[in-house]
Amino acid sequence: MSISTITVIGGGTMGNGIAHVAAQSGFTVTLVDVTEAATERAIKTITGNLERQVKKETITAEQMAETLGRISTTTDLEQGAHQADLVIEAASERLEIKRQIFATLDKVCKPEAILASNTSSISITDLAGGTGRADKFIGMHFFNPVPVMKLCEIIRGLATSDQTYATIKSMAETMGKVPVEVQDYPGFISNRILMPMINEAIYCVMEGIASVEDIDTVMKLGMAHPMGPLTLADFIGLDVCLSIMEVLHTGLGDSKYRPCPLLRKMVAAGHLGRKSGKGFYSY
Ligand code: 3HC
Repeated sequence: MSISTITVIGGGTMGNGIAHVAAQSGFTVTLVDVTEAATERAIKTITGNLERQVKKETITAEQMAETLGRISTTTDLEQGAHQADLVIEAASERLEIKRQIFATLDKVCKPEAILASNTSSISITDLAGGTGRADKFIGMHFFNPVPVMKLCEIIRGLATSDQTYATIKSMAETMGKVPVEVQDYPGFISNRILMPMINEAIYCVMEGIASVEDIDTVMKLGMAHPMGPLTLADFIGLDVCLSIMEVLHTGLGDSKYRPCPLLRKMVAAGHLGRKSGKGFYSY
């Protein structure tokens, strides 16, 4: 099946990034969110990021206008999704919300449409099981900032068909991404490796081994990471980090994945990182 029309559910950081790159790659995109204020915010962010690309001369002003021209928005899920060849869900990372969205999508989308989730850790097999098209269900896990990060983890649920995988792999390549095939296990590959590292860095803070700045410096200068783990945790959101650690801990049943008590305490205090203005650093 060839994909030309994409619907993105959710205009937050990941959703607006996915819509931006998909439109820039020539796809017709409908962005759906629950309020007009949210869709307006998403378009404003996309416009700002495209302007940055024009300034850096990686795209022309004409390409920017064409990209924006390919994106429409709506708050009506049914109207936004019924013509899509592919729906990419990037809503809140809450199982119940995602299940509800996919139940609706399964009813309103064309029978041949593929449903994808950008979930960072919820089981694709589990989400697919709530629809009548588990063979056409798949994970497309993008990375923040989506216009910059080249990776797309493609997660196969237990029933994902080879045809669906092949279509989505080729679609991710058209978006300029490097796809990696991953089986459905807690945290997939990226967060199975990344989150325990971040969690360990938080243990280092809790145990007073070094300052926040010095822990980040070790990983930046010693391991050539573009951001230290604590800066990255603030960037991702400490609530997101905690919820992924919980998924690893519950799903794999190994105490090595226990979330650091300091991480729990910071989330309980509302210190969520950049988005709340305070995490390991102040913003
Ligand atoms: N849209 C378009 N371009 C953007 C952008 C955006 N949102 N954000 C940054 N850029 C571009 C800049 O224009 C710049 O372009 P250039 O190379 O042509 O000059 C380039 O990206 C670098 O940006 P900056 O110069 O502003 O800043 P940095 O050099 O500090 O890079 C960064 C910023 C790309 C965010 C870099 O620090 C980085 O790679 N950090 C690590 C990010 C990371 O690990 N992300 C994954 C998070 S995990 C995740 O998403 C999965 C989830 O499941 C948890």
